[in-house]
Amino acid sequence: MNLNGRSTLVTGGAGGLGEAVVRSFAAAGASVVIFDAAADRARHLADELGGSVLAVVGDVLSETSVGEAVEVATGLGELSAVAVVHGAGVAARTVNRDGTPHDLDLFQRTINLNIVGTFNVVRLAAVAMAGNEPDEHGQRGVFINTASIAGLEGQTGQVAYGSAKAGIIGMTLPVARDLSPMGIRVNTIAPGTMGTPLMRSMPEEMQEKLVSTIPFPRRMGEPAEFAALVGHIVENPYLNGEVIRLDGALRFPPK
Ligand SMILES: NC(=O)c1ccc[n+]([C@@H]2O[C@H](COP(=O)([O-])OP(=O)(O)OC[C@H]3O[C@@H](n4cnc5c(N)ncnc54)[C@H](O)[C@@H]3O)[C@@H](O)[C@H]2O)c1
Repeated sequence: MNLNGRSTLVTGGAGGLGEAVVRSFAAAGASVVIFDAAADRARHLADELGGSVLAVVGDVLSETSVGEAVEVATGLGELSAVAVVHGAGVAARTVNRDGTPHDLDLFQRTINLNIVGTFNVVRLAAVAMAGNEPDEHGQRGVFINTASIAGLEGQTGQVAYGSAKAGIIGMTLPVARDLSPMGIRVNTIAPGTMGTPLMRSMPEEMQEKLVSTIPFPRRMGEPAEFAALVGHIVENPYLNGEVIRLDGALRFPPK
């Protein structure tokens, strides 16, 4: 799908990976709505890119604020690509080292943010997409969701995050099947260790330890490499219902 002159939405668009997607969508000639809870970063990026890049501040779990983001996006053109890039994890074990159980609220919040937040965006944006004119391939739009390789091989202390990302992986095929009659594709990217500003701010020693288990290239992935894969998924009409790893052949060890 050619994004030139079309409208797009990026949740978590003010974050490390989301920002790279926002920049690439804008460079492809699309209007972009940056949807993020971080008001300052979202507005700053929208101001920098200017033109038809707008920030909508809100929570992915709110029907009202996601609805507003979709409305702003459709006001800019046919909402044709949605990259769901928000998300976060926590580190806690099923039974903590001190013998206490995993905090249930923490588990539920992680599930909500990642799984429920992703589905909330997809269900609301899909309704808008369904009203688009199909392109020459019969496509009305495309979703790119963001999981993690932790959703396939969650490490010790990643039970909440791993379960949440597994949920995003699991919804890929059924949502793609649900939306097929409308000409809407759904794919998920499962990144490994990506060199976002947050990861790069970790102590050097910790970064080296993380990188040492990545076969090749032995470095963190670049946010621009994530954005390039998002761009390919948008462009390739035959890619649907798939989960694609982006990890330099990394397989997370147990710890
Ligand atoms: N960075 C990595 O190494 C890596 C690896 C695998 C998967 N991922 C996944 O990629 C995605 C992006 O990661 P990142 O490294 O860019 O993280 P990030 O923290 O830099 O960005 C996430 C963004 O989501 C926003 N956000 C959080 N909660 C929100 C909410 N309730 N409503 C709206 N916005 C909200 C944050 O404000 C932030 O801007 C996440 O889903 C993450 O789990 C990242």
